[in-house]
Amino acid sequence: MDEEHEELVRKLESVSKEENPLGSAFSDILCSFKCHMERENVSVVPLLKFLKGRTSESVGSESKEFIDASNNFRENYGEMLEEHRSMVNVVDHARKQFSSFSSDEISGIADELIHHISLEEEVLYPAALAASDLIRSQTDAAIKV
Ligand SMILES: [Fe+2]
Ligand SMILES: [Fe+2]
Repeated sequence: MDEEHEELVRKLESVSKEENPLGSAFSDILCSFKCHMERENVSVVPLLKFLKGRTSESVGSESKEFIDASNNFRENYGEMLEEHRSMVNVVDHARKQFSSFSSDEISGIADELIHHISLEEEVLYPAALAASDLIRSQTDAAIKV
């Protein structure tokens, strides 16, 4: 996820530097994407790390990092989905508004962003929610002992 974020930031930055309305639209998308990415870095990313750790070495669900990530993700889940919708809307609007959007490079970057969002909503967010449920049940069990 980290690598994909970095790659998308780099590509969005390249278009947002263009001094035209399309560059300005991409600058808005870039700004939203960076803020959104920071939220994912403290919620989804650690939760996925927790799941990955369960398949190799043992990672304690009681770790503060994971508990914080779990709470953070639950609190912000709805808003993060709204941020996705908002980025998709800006892309759709720009696609209709600017003829230069039809270039392979720009429409390719937009497609990558949309694909990234779909992958998160269909696979990574549900996985992060499952990790959050697991952390919750394990920490609840630990409290009861
Ligand atoms: Fe993301
Ligand atoms: Fe996202």
